[in-house]
Amino acid sequence: MLSSRLISLIAILIGLYFASRFELHKSPAIHEHLKRPAAAFSAVYNQAFAKQSPEVVTEESPQQVFTEESSQQVFTSDAPSAGSTRVPYTRHIVAVGDLHGDLGNAQKVLQFSGVVDEFGNWTGEVDFFVQTGDIIDRGDDTIKLFVWMEQLRVQAAAVGGVVMSHLGNHEVMNAIGSYVYPTEINTFGSVAARQKMLSSGRIGRAWAQNYTATSRLPLHPHLGPPNTPFPPEGHALHFHKEDDYDVNEESQYYDANEPLSHSALSFVHGGLSPTYSNLSPFPTKINTISASLLRKLQYRTQPPPSPPNPYPGLPHGSTREEHEVYDANGPFWYRGWATDPESKACVDVEKVLARTGTRRMIMGHTPDFTGIVSRCNGKIIIIDTGISHAYGGAVSALSIHYTFTPIDNEEGEPRWKEREVVSALYVDRQETIVDQERELVGDFRMA
Ligand SMILES: *[C@@H]1O[C@H](CO)[C@@H](O)[C@H](O)[C@H]1NC(C)=O
Ligand SMILES: *[C@@H]1O[C@H](CO)[C@@H](O)[C@H](O)[C@H]1NC(C)=O
Repeated sequence: MLSSRLISLIAILIGLYFASRFELHKSPAIHEHLKRPAAAFSAVYNQAFAKQSPEVVTEESPQQVFTEESSQQVFTSDAPSAGSTRVPYTRHIVAVGDLHGDLGNAQKVLQFSGVVDEFGNWTGEVDFFVQTGDIIDRGDDTIKLFVWMEQLRVQAAAVGGVVMSHLGNHEVMNAIGSYVYPTEINTFGSVAARQKMLSSGRIGRAWAQNYTATSRLPLHPHLGPPNTPFPPEGHALHFHKEDDYDVNEESQYYDANEPLSHSALSFVHGGLSPTYSNLSPFPTKINTISASLLRKLQYRTQPPPSPPNPYPGLPHGSTREEHEVYDANGPFWYRGWATDPESKACVDVEKVLARTGTRRMIMGHTPDFTGIVSRCNGKIIIIDTGISHAYGGAVSALSIHYTFTPIDNEEGEPRWKEREVVSALYVDRQETIVDQERELVGDFRMA
């Protein structure tokens, strides 16, 4: 027990050492790597994902949990077996924040980050494209943007890529009938058309099928497909009392046999508050509640638009959990990670990372027009930079390159180097936010 914690601690310290050594330091090698993101990666990636079947999403399960069958196919096809040659593994993720109805700037950012080509088609250069919500309101291209996202989702799936979409507070506001941006009526043509399209129409159906409130994206397939619930079954977290929480205690769930347990990222629109009650299991609990709320909103008789009518609120019969998921402390609206002082945020973030089985949290919602904000050594990353011309902020994307490489050694141990490079990309420059690496020993099969 003690020794396993000790080993975990050493692994963390090595990680911290490299993190501090490389923090904000631009290595030319990485620079070069990022300029040509796909070359080396594509070969491995295409091989590993060639056999993927398109994700199956049924009407009954609107949350985007990837099915067992497809996950088995995707992630075990090329799994190295004991004794066989160990192969390097790479994953490239691009995440983009609030788009607010601006197709031109969305195309620009997806293009310079390598997600799409000049025609707006999926390039195959990234494994995961993540959008953290607020596509609707303030611009004129809302419908085109949602339609484009569905096209990209299909194009991506055809070559083994994945588009992960999230609902923002503005999507939910519109589902409620809170039309605070009346200009958006022009986009839809009429109130009735807007109501229909966002409930039973193509955008409403896309939200129900292909959008979630939050997600957990493993960096290594050993942890299973995206949105595999954390903690893993049989490893329930035990919280005695909220106040007793100790990040070094068992509740953190770092098992010496599972040093990759937190090699994952969370994405959400607003933020995962440390006091929000439904963090675990993550992300399934939040997504189940949010899907149920969306369903109630879409299936109710659509209330008259507000304004000029009074705010309709959540449907009668919404549960306490559904109210909580949409309140100021819930994942759509929370702003604490942007507004709390570091002294508080950097303590609180550890609790949330521990409970969600992740090493960093990525969110939109609270804009900084000058660029992507990284706090607490990149454990909190806020990617809303006011991309829409309605704001005129920085046109930005977050890029994550993950590599897991075998290390040759005389002992013949299954030793690996895990490296994660997180960068902020802009039209004319890029900045390294995190460059972290550590060594691990183990037989990390793809789950
Ligand atoms: C982009 O994709 C569409 C199908 O969605 C296709 O018709 C078109 O030819 C593609 N364009 C290019 C340049 O590949
Ligand atoms: C959801 O995404 C799948 C591809 O993963 C696509 O086939 C389907 O049409 C999308 N649903 C809607 C309603 O757009």
